[in-house]
Amino acid sequence: MDTKIIQIDEKNINEDLILQAANVLKAGGLVAFPTETVYGLGANGLDEEAVKKIYIAKGRPSDNPLILHISSMEELAPLVEEIPDLAYKCIDRFWPGPLTIIFKKSNIIPAIITAGLDSVAIRMPNHPIALSLIKQAGVPIAAPSANLSGKPSPTKGNHVIDDMSGKIDMIIDGGNTGVGLESTVLDLSTDLPTILRPGGVTLEDLKEFIPNVVQDGSITNKEEIPKSPGQKYKHYAPSAEMLLFVGDLENVVDEINYRANNLLKEGKRVGILATEETKDKYALGEIIVSGSRNNTRTIAHNLFDTLRRFDGLDVDIILAEGVDYDYLGMAIMNRMIKASSGKLIRV
Ligand code: TXA
Ligand code: MG
Repeated sequence: MDTKIIQIDEKNINEDLILQAANVLKAGGLVAFPTETVYGLGANGLDEEAVKKIYIAKGRPSDNPLILHISSMEELAPLVEEIPDLAYKCIDRFWPGPLTIIFKKSNIIPAIITAGLDSVAIRMPNHPIALSLIKQAGVPIAAPSANLSGKPSPTKGNHVIDDMSGKIDMIIDGGNTGVGLESTVLDLSTDLPTILRPGGVTLEDLKEFIPNVVQDGSITNKEEIPKSPGQKYKHYAPSAEMLLFVGDLENVVDEINYRANNLLKEGKRVGILATEETKDKYALGEIIVSGSRNNTRTIAHNLFDTLRRFDGLDVDIILAEGVDYDYLGMAIMNRMIKASSGKLIRV
């Protein structure tokens, strides 16, 4: 398949190009587009045949449900059985933005969207290109992250082009995404408000509005089976093996240096995922800085790109520094633990 790639400037949106993309969606095609979190791979969420193509293009397991993206509040009611008061509060504060809410679904939602569950995930992205595209398409847009299943989510147009060229109808290259990690998934379809996936809106942010909000146990405990189907799969993984180090920062740096030295002696190509604060303490291997510990937004913004850059450098092993679990650190660590297939080493 020929994939049409178009560039759109989010600060000066070419509405003709948006219309072209919306027409592809209306005709049952697939369009990748930027959101404020990561790029999404969109299809008409009410068209079962179109949604099937998403699973095929990504190689995504069919029991992993999709998020529906909307552009205004009027679009929400037809998709859900009810809108709880708590949802109104969260929507008021966090939409448009990186918060996905799970509702009880209405009967217009095709089973392929929800993987047979009786709930549906919905979010309103905070990105002018995404909002304009959804509005023009006139239907809710189903969109998982626009990466091949298992790979790091795309945060740049080129990431999408690398993964999806030849597999989908159109890619809108709208530059770099902002947050860099996916939305927080918050389940409000049961009595206990539960975070199923940590993301751009933090637990601390949500606690201000929902004092009794909890996190699904599997987010911090590897032994528990996640309630969100997508959370159980291998995810975000670079090609190389990755080891993730946590603990006192000085010990982390010492351990990484020690291991890098030994691995290099064995003839391995070593990548080190460092931070601004530690980068000068490493001398060996391919060193990439994700961002600053004093501003974890920078680490979130760059994380998936750094993992893809290590792929490009063809390293055999990545030694990565972890971060603290508070605020955005929870989502960063969730992604890094998955990227390392759970190889978390406490020093
Ligand atoms: O930031 C984001 O959320 C991005 C952008 C493109 O909007 N999208 C995204 O979609 O990350 P995806 O498909 O990669 O992740 C959706 C997550 C999965 O973990 C899935 O299992 C969960 O949401 N999910 C979807 N519907 C659900 C439901 N009804 N109940 C529980 N979890 C659900
Ligand atoms: Mg994804």
